[in-house]
Amino acid sequence: MNEQRLYLDWNATAPMLDCVREAMTEAFVEAVGNASSVHREGQRARAVVERARRSVANAIGAPAQAVVFTGGATESNNQVIYDHVETTDDPFVICTAVEHPSVLEVVESLQHRGVRTEIWPVDERGRLDLQWLEERLDTGATLVSAMWANNEMGNIYEVGPIAELVHQRGAVLHVDGTQALGRIELDFKEAGVDYLTLSFHKMGGPKGVGATVVREGLKVGALLAGGHQERGRRPGTENVPAMAGLDAAARQLTSERERWSETLHQMKSSFVETLSDIDNVEFRGDLDRQLPNTVNIAFEGVDGEDLLLALDLEGISASSGSACTAGSLEPSHVILAMGYDQNRARQSVRFSFGPSTDEERLVEAGRRIGAVVERLRALKADWRG
Ligand SMILES: Cc1ncc(COP(=O)(O)O)c(C=O)c1O
Repeated sequence: MNEQRLYLDWNATAPMLDCVREAMTEAFVEAVGNASSVHREGQRARAVVERARRSVANAIGAPAQAVVFTGGATESNNQVIYDHVETTDDPFVICTAVEHPSVLEVVESLQHRGVRTEIWPVDERGRLDLQWLEERLDTGATLVSAMWANNEMGNIYEVGPIAELVHQRGAVLHVDGTQALGRIELDFKEAGVDYLTLSFHKMGGPKGVGATVVREGLKVGALLAGGHQERGRRPGTENVPAMAGLDAAARQLTSERERWSETLHQMKSSFVETLSDIDNVEFRGDLDRQLPNTVNIAFEGVDGEDLLLALDLEGISASSGSACTAGSLEPSHVILAMGYDQNRARQSVRFSFGPSTDEERLVEAGRRIGAVVERLRALKADWRG
């Protein structure tokens, strides 16, 4: 990464950990076989895959046999939900309004196919109401999909109480843990999750690999046909160098997670303090339960996209969560679900960082953000309306 720039978009993807890059580089040279082949090269590749499985399982408190490797969290989310619908009589799927599109759009597609679905709404801080879920479970919901932490607001959701409710009514719980990994503790067994889906590139692992973690006694079927890999649950030749990277990332996670969390908390409080010096700001999301690496903020009178472009020129990379639809920038579905109108929704900017972000540079960035905001406001003399 360019030394001059400050990358504050870790929730999109994180810079690769050194240990991951080294492990992958070595595997490109040393583990050349197909993990399904019986010869020595094949066995060597198989050993890389199985070691990665044990390391990932260990990092999240799951048994190794529960881990099915996939091509990322998008694939895993699709796999869990579509498989549930195919294997369940009279399926009824609920997901939260703030899920990643790889859940939300799958649920919407089911609705078009005539499957019963419902979207679990959030309040103005993006929080969920358990009472709402309890009532829907009583009307026959079979699968609930709720993320562990949200990518845009950074909200952390209490998975344990949701799991308890879901299980009391005989339904199953899918949790997308992609943004929580490496930032807060994830304990698969203790949380009572049935299906946990993961990706590792937000914490410095390789992109394009993920995992579906399945509770003992449950099954997950393959999304694709054509091979027996991952015991038939994910056909296709394993990406062995990526598995080597995953192994390194998971080991680092196990040894560093607590230290990472502490570092992130410290960094976030310094950053928030600096940003609080700017006039007329609104910190968004559930400030009591938010990832220690994520700040979602709106500067009154400043369009988020204008700010991002100006910050990019200043060497600061951040994100708004907007999606480009037919040439126009639509505010994110997450912020709209929280009840903001289009104008206020468009003011949201997300800063996300990681354990290797330099705290001093982050605080300095906070000051520069303030200066850019003032400049943009001055350009729009009427920003106070
Ligand atoms: C919460 C969440 N789920 C799923 C995904 C998709 O993960 P992947 O990039 O591995 O497909 C992302 C990435 O943006 C995410 O933030």
